[in-house]
Amino acid sequence: MIEEIKLIVKTALGQENIDIANNKDLVFLRIKIARLGHFTTNASFLLAKKNGTSPMEEAEKLKSKIIQTSPAGYFEKIEIVNGYINFFVSEKTINESFKKISSAGASWGDSKIGAGQRVIVEYGSPNIGKPLHFGHLRSTIIGQALFNIYKSQGYKAISWSHPGDWGKQFGIMIAAYKEKARAGEKVELSIDEFLKLYVDYNFRMKNDPRLEEIAREETRKLQYGDKENARLWKKIYNLSMGEFSRIIKQLGVRFDVNNGESFYKPFLKRIVDVALDRGIAIRSEGAVIIPLEEENLPPFIIQKSDEAYLYTTTDIAAAKYRLEKYKADKILYVVGAEQYLHFEQLFAVLKKLGYLKNQELVHVKFGLVLGEDSKKLSTRAGKHISLSEVIDEAVSKAAVILSEKAPEIQKHEREKTAQIIGIDSLKYNDLSQNRLSNIVFNWDKMLSFEGIAAPYLLYTYARLRSILRKAGAKKIVSGEFEAESEQKLILKLDAFPDAVRLAADNFYPHTIAVYLYELSEAINNFYHTENVLNAESSIRASRLALVNTASIVLKKGLNLLGLETVERL
Ligand code: ARG
Repeated sequence: MIEEIKLIVKTALGQENIDIANNKDLVFLRIKIARLGHFTTNASFLLAKKNGTSPMEEAEKLKSKIIQTSPAGYFEKIEIVNGYINFFVSEKTINESFKKISSAGASWGDSKIGAGQRVIVEYGSPNIGKPLHFGHLRSTIIGQALFNIYKSQGYKAISWSHPGDWGKQFGIMIAAYKEKARAGEKVELSIDEFLKLYVDYNFRMKNDPRLEEIAREETRKLQYGDKENARLWKKIYNLSMGEFSRIIKQLGVRFDVNNGESFYKPFLKRIVDVALDRGIAIRSEGAVIIPLEEENLPPFIIQKSDEAYLYTTTDIAAAKYRLEKYKADKILYVVGAEQYLHFEQLFAVLKKLGYLKNQELVHVKFGLVLGEDSKKLSTRAGKHISLSEVIDEAVSKAAVILSEKAPEIQKHEREKTAQIIGIDSLKYNDLSQNRLSNIVFNWDKMLSFEGIAAPYLLYTYARLRSILRKAGAKKIVSGEFEAESEQKLILKLDAFPDAVRLAADNFYPHTIAVYLYELSEAINNFYHTENVLNAESSIRASRLALVNTASIVLKKGLNLLGLETVERL
C-alpha cells in the first residue's frame, strides 16, 4: 500500500511540485498507533518550506487535492495532525491488498531492484588451524541472511568464503611441530593436537624472540614454496576445513566460492610491483607501504621487510579478483567491527590503485557476543569455546524443551525438530539484535516460546499449519475482512516488503527479524479473538485464506533469515 500512497500523493503534488515529489526528504511512514491512522507523510512541510507558508495550511490544500485525485474509496478518511497528513485506508483497500499478497504467495517481499547486478557476500571465513570463535558464527549467520535477502531483491548473489589459510599461525604450528619431531616426540596429526602445539608455542614465543624468529622463517618458507612446509600446511588445512565444513553444513550454509587467502598467492608479487611502479606504494625501512595521509588513515603495509606478504596484500588481490573476474557491482564483507580500520584502508587503497571505480564495497560490521554477565564470551582464560559444542548444546536444550512442550511428537520427527529449533534459536538470537551492538547470549531467552525468540515464531507457524491441516483448506486468494484483528494482520502482511527492503538497504537483517515477531503477534492476536474453524462458512473461507497467506509470509521471512520451519510443534 505504501507505494500506492506515494503515487497518490505525488499525483496530487502535480507537475508544479515535481521537485518535492522527487525530494529524498519526502517521507512516507507506517503509523504504529492505530487511532492516528495507517500511514503518514511530511509532504506539507516541504511545501511550506518552498512556499514560505505553514505546514497546516499546505496540508489542508494538499488534502483536498488528494481527495480529488485519489481512486474512489481508497481512503476511509484523511486527517491532519500537527501539519502531517495521516491516512486511514478503507476496508476495500485492505481487502484489495490481501488479494495482492495472497496471489503473490511466497514471492511476496521479492523485488527486481537488483536485476542485472552482482553482489558478492563474503562471510564465514575462519582462520584455519585456529579455533573458530563466535565472530565466525555471527559472520556466518548474518552473511547467510544477507545473501538470501539480496537474492530476493533480484540480485545475482554469490556467497563467498575467504578463509585465513595463509597467516603466520602456520609458521607457528609448523615450527612447533618440527620442534617436537626433532626432539623425537611423536606428534599425533589431529586438529586438537595442532591447536595445543599452537597455544603452547605462541605462549613461549612471547618471551623468546628466538622462537618467534623461527616461526617467522617457517612462514616465509611456506610462502616461498618449501615442499615440507607445504605438506604440513595441507595436512593442517584438511583437518581444519573438515571441522568448518561440518559446522557450515549443520547451519545449512553453502558457499558458491571458497577461495582461501592462499588462492591469491600467485597474484601478490604483481600487486606490490604495480603499486610501486605507479608510485602509490613506497619502500620504508625495508617494507613496502601505501601511505594514506590524504585519507587520514595510517599507512597500509603490503610487504614486510622479510618480503613476506600480508593479510592486506591478499585482500587487495582478492578484491581485484572479485571486481574484475566476477564483475561484482557490490561486495559485502561481513566481518567483525574490530577490523574496521583494515577495511577503511583497503577500500581507500583499492581506489588509489584504480581497481575500485563506482562499485560499492561495504564492511558489514558486527559487535561481540557477550555472556549473561555482559563480558565477552569468545575466550575464557585460554580455554576456547568450541562452536560445534555451542551448536550441540543448543540442539540438546531444544530437545529437552520439546519433550516438555510437545511430548506427542514422534521420535523420528522429534530429533529433526530439535535440530531445527536449536539452530534456529541460535540464528534468531543473533539476527533479532542490531548487528552493530554487542549481542547477549542467554540460553533461556533464546529458547523461549514467548518472547522475541525462534521457538515463539516456529510455534506460531506450526499452529497456522495445524489449522490448515484440520480444515483441509482449498486455495482461496481473497476474502472479506471486517474484524479489527483481521485488518491489523493484513496491514502487517502488507508491510513485509518494506521490512525486506530496509534490511537490504541497511544490511540489517534485524528489521526482518523484528518484523516477524510483530507479525507473529498480529497472527496470535487474530487467532485468539476470532474463530476460524468454527466460523460461518463464508467467513471461515476468508479466514482460512488469511491463515494460509500469513503462514506463507511468516515462512518466507524465516527462510530469508536462514531459518527452517517445522510443521508440528
Ligand atoms: N579470516 C579473518 C578472521 O577470522 C576474516 C576474513 C575477513 N575477510 C577479509 N576479506 N579480510 O579474522
